[in-house]
Amino acid sequence: MRIERLSCESLAAIARSDGGNGWKHDLDAWSKTFQDAEQGKRLVLVALAEGEVLGYGSLLWQSAYPPFALAGTPEIHDLVTARRHRGRGVATGLIAALEQAAASGGRTSIGLGVGLYADYGAAQRLYPLLGYLPDGRGITYRYQPVDPGSSVPVDDDLVLWLTKSVPTAAAAS
Ligand SMILES: CC(C)(COP(=O)(O)OP(=O)(O)OC[C@H]1O[C@@H](n2cnc3c(N)ncnc32)[C@H](O)[C@@H]1OP(=O)(O)O)[C@@H](O)C(=O)NCCC(=O)NCCS
Repeated sequence: MRIERLSCESLAAIARSDGGNGWKHDLDAWSKTFQDAEQGKRLVLVALAEGEVLGYGSLLWQSAYPPFALAGTPEIHDLVTARRHRGRGVATGLIAALEQAAASGGRTSIGLGVGLYADYGAAQRLYPLLGYLPDGRGITYRYQPVDPGSSVPVDDDLVLWLTKSVPTAAAAS
């Protein structure tokens, strides 16, 4: 498996595949992502083997989650492994590469949000294994804290945020 930046070629391969739940194959949906990558707002990495895209993930340099934005914590976003390649370390490899990019960019922490319902079960187990811990601020709905006793739908906008320290590039070398 090799990991590289998103190219037009790998984008076409993503659009051709049906990667199962979470997989984004609509080129229109990708055009903003591609534009953001070109403008340096996000880094988009893909994991490839034999011309096939096994998975992809982004690093948003400026998170929309206010505590991350304030702390300069970049956010891992849109991380998906194609269903038939799951459980073989693809996401683990992508996350390691995104962490390295964060460190090279001078960041000392990295974060991500995970949904609370069963479709996110694999992600809920994976992130703690890789050293990600809840940020201690509870859950948010559309980036706003959810207060005790309030009601919100359990959907993709209901999120628990996790963070991890990344060694600085200088310390790692
Ligand atoms: C979450 C996801 C990206 C993991 O990708 P992956 O390439 O299969 O993950 P890896 O092989 O690197 O990691 C394996 C670890 O993830 C967890 N995991 C993977 N599949 C799992 C499953 N079906 N059930 C429970 N845990 C699972 C385990 O902790 C596993 O470690 P282990 O094998 O040592 O037990 C993938 O399942 C996926 O694309 N899911 C749908 C989209 C999604 O939820 N994205 C994350 C949004 S926050």
